[in-house]
Amino acid sequence: MIPAETTAKILESARIEEVVGEFVNLKRRGSNLIGLCPFHQEKSPSFTVSPSKGIFKCFGCSKAGDSAKFIMEHEHASYPEALRYLAKKYQIEIEERQQTPEEIVALNERERLFNLNSFALNYFSDTLFNTDEGKSIGLGYFKERDFRESIIKKFQLGYSPDKRDAFSKHALSTGYNEEVLIKTGLSTKHDSNLYDRFQARVIFPIHNLTGKVIGFGGRILSSDKSKAKYLNSPESEIYIKGKSLYGIYFAKTAINKLDSCFLVEGYTDVLTLHQAGIENVVASSGTSLTIEQIRLIRRFTNNITILYDGDKAGIKASLRGIDMILEEGMNVRILLFPEGDDPDSFVRKHRTTEVQEYIADNSKDFIRFKTNLLLEETENDPIKKAGLVKEIVETIALIPDAIYRSVYVKECSRLLDVHEQTLMNELNKILRSRFKKQFNPDLPDQKPETVPQYEKPEEEQSDVSPAYHQERELVKILLHFGRNEVNHKVPDELGNEVIFSENVAEFIVADLTNDQIVFENKTHQKIFDIFALAINEGVVPSENQFISNPEPDIALLSADLLSSPYELHDWKRKKIFVKTELETLMQNITSSLYKYKERIIDIRLNSVSKQLKEATNFEDQIILMQQKKHLDNIRFKINQMLGIVISK
Ligand code: CTP
Ligand code: MN
Repeated sequence: MIPAETTAKILESARIEEVVGEFVNLKRRGSNLIGLCPFHQEKSPSFTVSPSKGIFKCFGCSKAGDSAKFIMEHEHASYPEALRYLAKKYQIEIEERQQTPEEIVALNERERLFNLNSFALNYFSDTLFNTDEGKSIGLGYFKERDFRESIIKKFQLGYSPDKRDAFSKHALSTGYNEEVLIKTGLSTKHDSNLYDRFQARVIFPIHNLTGKVIGFGGRILSSDKSKAKYLNSPESEIYIKGKSLYGIYFAKTAINKLDSCFLVEGYTDVLTLHQAGIENVVASSGTSLTIEQIRLIRRFTNNITILYDGDKAGIKASLRGIDMILEEGMNVRILLFPEGDDPDSFVRKHRTTEVQEYIADNSKDFIRFKTNLLLEETENDPIKKAGLVKEIVETIALIPDAIYRSVYVKECSRLLDVHEQTLMNELNKILRSRFKKQFNPDLPDQKPETVPQYEKPEEEQSDVSPAYHQERELVKILLHFGRNEVNHKVPDELGNEVIFSENVAEFIVADLTNDQIVFENKTHQKIFDIFALAINEGVVPSENQFISNPEPDIALLSADLLSSPYELHDWKRKKIFVKTELETLMQNITSSLYKYKERIIDIRLNSVSKQLKEATNFEDQIILMQQKKHLDNIRFKINQMLGIVISK
């Protein structure tokens, strides 16, 4: 138990912006700070921190609270655990007693795993520094690889002795039970005996963002090819490979400060670079890079440089990494080390300044990288060159931001000596066909950035935007009538009305997606996305999917909207003749939809016109003019549709 006065002292000392700032890249906005929410995926920041109130709040996922709450949510920690974390951060002493065996049993699952890992960390470290075997074999190995004691200590490296069950026995006798030993993977069980996973290996502990040990990697010391060079902890409740990055805890400050992150493959690459004073480096540790790992980096910077081996596997991994990083809207550069070298071996052969120069001189943006890579094969072969161009344009098409796309098109045009317009046409073709697959799950990533997605900070929230009510009306229609079949009339190319029937959800989703319209309100958009996804899979979501949704804002809003009836507008009073209720309904829907679109498109048109007036650069003007023309077209169609509705 932490005494109440200590708790109060901890909470008073904790500065929310510092606590959150360790995990989220915060930027000042007025009296608040904003950043990308760590609790849900987003591209534009809706996560707000108020230093004066001492709280955080995300307007996207509605998580909110004080410093302790943030740590609890972020680290899946209990309240006492969060307090202990804050106490450590602010150097406040807590009178902690040694835990009794009963207390160890009572700790919650995750805490028990962390607890054992930290016990194991001490054991491996102790074995390395304080046993004869550890000193001669473990430390000997590290020395041979030029790892200095400071780096060994910083990364808490260790050694597991050449014994079958020394660690397991030691842990059992200390009060840790078999179950948790197996769950962390530190022990394995055969014929009712426990054996140590790590035997005669040097140990690399893997830390999470807060510096807690989530798993271990162990390297053999011999060159025995029959054994795996590295053995890693299995996945557990606290260690998910694809979501962790080796070195992130020690790198995050430097990544944030330098606004750039180096991505390497292995444990030793991270260590050697650190030792050379290059600290903004993390490793994907042999697994192929995942979106989650990229997003982990994105919390601290938008700029990643891939530093991989120059062999075939390294190149292949780089190409995959490039596409994934670009798709996340981040910038990527690539540097391959000479074949046969990895960052570790290269750095050890050169001085730090040479390494820094080498990285600066040889890292390439992805276009140059791909071009250099493929141009050798395609020289003087126009068909192969066309293939290369196509491949590069396909990668450019992954970039969510139109301005960045156009910058890369220019570079590609210059490097490959192809007309910019040709590339643009090709790009647009790819974008269009991607857009046709509009209902695929990663759709939100491809929405244009022209629509404001940022939600206002707390103080300004009360005065909702004019589009808010129209959005809400559409969401209400979706929830109430999403699955109703309706006939509706649209003009064909000749201006004749054609009737076709589909359900209301399909109609609304297709129409808004087609014009790349995104709701401003996150909850509205979430509900919309659920419909879009379901339609893509050929189903209509049930009411329960909304009312009992695990996300509280969806559940709340849909319950609210579904519990009040949908009132049909009184068209009769406007002297408009309507036959059936269904037809009235359809008119309501169409008019709600198009009036809403009218507003959004007008806002976009205004903004584009304004930018056009201010644009000085010719390229920008062209892009803006294209956008304006596109919007004018949509505006024209809206007028047509509204005309039909009103004149009926
Ligand atoms: N790896 C692994 N299991 C293996 C081999 C590799 O988990 N059997 C992971 C490790 O995280 C390793 C990374 O993949 O650090 C890169 O592998 P590799 O290049 O083979 O090792 P190095 O990091 O270069 O290690 P060393 O320099 O000690 O040989
Ligand atoms: Mn190596």
